[in-house]
Amino acid sequence: MKPSKILAIETSCDESAAAIVSNENNLAKVHSSVIWSQAQIHEKFGGVVPEVASRSHLDRISEVIDKAIKDANCKVSDLCAIAVTNKPGLVGALLVGVSTAKTLSYCLNLPLICVDHLEGHLHSIFIEDETMKKIDDSHLPLLACLVSGGHTCLYLIRDLPPKDLNLLKISESRDDAAGEAFDKTAKLLGLPYPGGILMDQYSKKGNKKAHVFPSPLPGDNIEFSFSGIKTAVATKLKTDGYEPHLWGPIDVENLPKDQDLWNYCASIQEAIVQTLNRKIDLAIKKYKVKGLAVVGGVSANSRFRELLLEKRVPVFLPNLKYCTDNAAMIGAAALFKFERNEVLLNEQKIRASV
Ligand code: KG4
Ligand code: ZN
Repeated sequence: MKPSKILAIETSCDESAAAIVSNENNLAKVHSSVIWSQAQIHEKFGGVVPEVASRSHLDRISEVIDKAIKDANCKVSDLCAIAVTNKPGLVGALLVGVSTAKTLSYCLNLPLICVDHLEGHLHSIFIEDETMKKIDDSHLPLLACLVSGGHTCLYLIRDLPPKDLNLLKISESRDDAAGEAFDKTAKLLGLPYPGGILMDQYSKKGNKKAHVFPSPLPGDNIEFSFSGIKTAVATKLKTDGYEPHLWGPIDVENLPKDQDLWNYCASIQEAIVQTLNRKIDLAIKKYKVKGLAVVGGVSANSRFRELLLEKRVPVFLPNLKYCTDNAAMIGAAALFKFERNEVLLNEQKIRASV
């Protein structure tokens, strides 16, 4: 049988990840997906430290790849290509994945496929599952909202795999990303990095109407801006008699606790997700889209998902395990590039860039 599996590698930020995927009716079938998160290592610094991230990738990448190959019960002879995230991200972190992928490609004499991390996230809706099987041309143009720790963008997807997605970027954030807004406001509350998931959990016990935080860029502007919410939260905490946490050891005595903390979380989360939701509604109307996809770490947010249930167009959301960084989505993008022959061969291999 012709080799048909791709080994994909992702190291753009603080997850060392590898996956084995193959094409199943133009959706990615995931044979294995291994993610080793460095979150605990960066927690004490309150954010990702690039040099520490690169070193941790170096420590882990070989065993992550080994495990992905073993979990998939895959032989090297089953592989048709090696794929890797080559941009954007932390340069030192990307280099670990890119160098590893180049070495494997060279030694195994397999083509190398470079994948843009954002294109990877957008392909998380083309990973095999019952809902994704329903996506077809009738959903085009499909509005895609990419919400992660580094990006908040709206795109129109105008073609479906195996074709190139024929993306048109229609909006982005002028400053911070939505995930960054979660993480930075969580930090002000003394929560560990990355705070988004904890905010989601604590919000379930809180009152989202306890405080009102601004929803930036009102009117019919579809751009995003999330930097102001940090100042709004810090100011509100001070007004309420607290000392927002900025750096150093966390002084729990001067920070909200229990119900009070949960109310802050719920109110901050509400401001962020309502803003995203409002801009999505504006774009659905403006561009007369036939479907909506929401991808990236923040698409895992439970309150956001609740709001997305109410859309008047079909909504496609990745399985929770493919919202945050993973290599399966990189493999998904790579599968279709492979079909389109967008691969680097022989001496071109060394041109993989960060
Ligand atoms: O896509 P991702 O893993 O990495 C980037 O490409 O940036 O996204 C990470 C971001 C972080 O900011 C994290 O706090 C946020 O996604 N995040 C969440 C949730 N899970 C992850 N934010 C809100 N609610 C969640 N459940
Ligand atoms: Zn990402």
